[in-house]
Amino acid sequence: MNWDRLIEKAFEGMEKSYAPYSGFRVGAALLAKDGEIYTGCNIESCAYSPTICAERTALAKAVSEGERVFKALAIVSSAGVDGGYTSPCGVCRQMLFEFCGEEMPVVLAKSKQDYQVVLLGELLPRGFGPDKLGKERAKCE
Ligand code: THU
Repeated sequence: MNWDRLIEKAFEGMEKSYAPYSGFRVGAALLAKDGEIYTGCNIESCAYSPTICAERTALAKAVSEGERVFKALAIVSSAGVDGGYTSPCGVCRQMLFEFCGEEMPVVLAKSKQDYQVVLLGELLPRGFGPDKLGKERAKCE
């Protein structure tokens, strides 16, 4: 699989990052089933806790446009080539698990040439997913 385009879009997302408190800029690109790519960036708050991560920004943009089926996610950050690969926080893993299967590839990229691919199920093993609610879930669909 060639991840160039998705990584490129994640870097595009990172350009919009609003991170004046941490200085840690993050970008994400979520590939939907029809080929559409939704980008996201982290958006921080002076009250700190309302901060939203790049991954959830991308997911919220996609879901709010009616998209619920995803094929892959790429994540980049300003830690870039010097730091490690940026992996989603626990809250984002849970939220991604809501819509994306355990088999969905997550591309942790420093650049188009330097990246690692992990599956969502490896990031959140034995995760609690919507199927666990059984019938209750049907009420929200
Ligand atoms: N952050 C993300 O946007 N995604 C991640 O995968 C890790 C953390 C953001 C949240 C906060 O704005 C900054 O990075 C430092 O934690």
